[in-house]
Amino acid sequence: MRGLLALTVLFVAVFGKETFEGHQVLRMYAKNEDQLALINDLEDNHEFELDFWRGVTDVRTPVDVRVPHHNLRSIKIHLESNAIDYSIMIGDLQAMLDEERMEMVSAARVPEPKNADSYDYARYHPINEIYSFQDMLVAENPKLVSKIVIGKSYEGRPLNVLKFSTGGTNRPAIWIDTGIHSREWVTQASGTWFAKKIVDDYGRDPALTAILNKMDIYLEIVTNPDGYYFSHTSNRMWRKTRKPNPGSSCIGVDPNRNWDAGFGGAGASGSPCAETYRGPKANSESEVKSIVDFVKSHGNFKAFISLHAYSQMLLYPYGYTKTPCKDDTELHSLAKKAVTDLASLYGTRYRFGSIINTIYQASGGSIDWSYNQGIKYSFTFELRDTGRYGFILPTNQIIPTATETWQALMAIMNHTYKNPY
Ligand SMILES: *[C@@H]1O[C@H](CO)[C@@H](O)[C@H](O)[C@H]1NC(C)=O
Ligand SMILES: [Zn+2]
Repeated sequence: MRGLLALTVLFVAVFGKETFEGHQVLRMYAKNEDQLALINDLEDNHEFELDFWRGVTDVRTPVDVRVPHHNLRSIKIHLESNAIDYSIMIGDLQAMLDEERMEMVSAARVPEPKNADSYDYARYHPINEIYSFQDMLVAENPKLVSKIVIGKSYEGRPLNVLKFSTGGTNRPAIWIDTGIHSREWVTQASGTWFAKKIVDDYGRDPALTAILNKMDIYLEIVTNPDGYYFSHTSNRMWRKTRKPNPGSSCIGVDPNRNWDAGFGGAGASGSPCAETYRGPKANSESEVKSIVDFVKSHGNFKAFISLHAYSQMLLYPYGYTKTPCKDDTELHSLAKKAVTDLASLYGTRYRFGSIINTIYQASGGSIDWSYNQGIKYSFTFELRDTGRYGFILPTNQIIPTATETWQALMAIMNHTYKNPY
């Protein structure tokens, strides 16, 4: 018995995984600006150890917050004493994670795919499988796909970008990244599906073929590889990079607050323990800096699209300022077309608009940076869902999510192609 216990302790120490036993995700509804401010204060209050899954927007929009089991009672009392309405979105997070894990364990018994056709796009894959997928796709389509390593993550993992090109030199290009926030697993899974879709549709779909005959597409699927690895092995809820912060026991920087656009302004945190910690300076994270250097040295990007989850939104600049960007009208109507096309498949509804007017103020974000570099068609997506499952989106929604998102991506890419600048 004691031996078994020791073995169990050893097992947890070696294969230790953060558990979320009894954690709940609460949805809070502010009735007025005062209540909204109270909920906002909670975000800076580390006493309850809250994890904001969906931050404060406005009175019409609920806020989703993960609460550790030992703070459930006190947070509920706090909400009730302030007359803030809430509901329980996820009653036991660990139960949901166990289900997800079980599916992955049974998938791991299936032999590794030998080619991109037999890759299981309807599953979440560990990083090594996504890396192998990329190599298979390149090997199978040498005339269309190549792999560029634009840098290394903090822990030394390659930052792989797939380049889809039918020739030419330094053609006008489209950038797409997924997974900059590692726990947003449906984005990396969708990115993998997009890669295969591009290969399958080139020469078949006239719109994509026309685009690829004039332009290149660059796709970074695992934009935050250390975080993604960690979200599989240790903490499913990991969002940030994995670089230690000197003087703090908290690890990581929010790689979508680290760009040189309104860096350090409101809508990011200066505290290393915050999920939205901006980092010591702009581009401090190699995962960010590598893209910055690559995009600048390429010099011919015309669209820059960054994919997140969740909450079903399509957003354009700015996030750090209320001043409308100079292409506001065009980006607004393009976003409208893109979400209409997206909804045409399964009726999934998206909100759209500038970041600051649609979701919240956020500084140091990637698409504000790309837009300020002169890349007009800069967009960010928040994919499914609206909070029923949040980051733990069931695998049976991966392909529908990727497929509908592709409609919107095609709308943006086609518009970029038709409107050279
Ligand atoms: C591409 O854009 C053109 C011109 O705006 C439009 O006529 C066409 O329907 C678009 N195709 C797709 C697939 O969106
Ligand atoms: Zn995100």
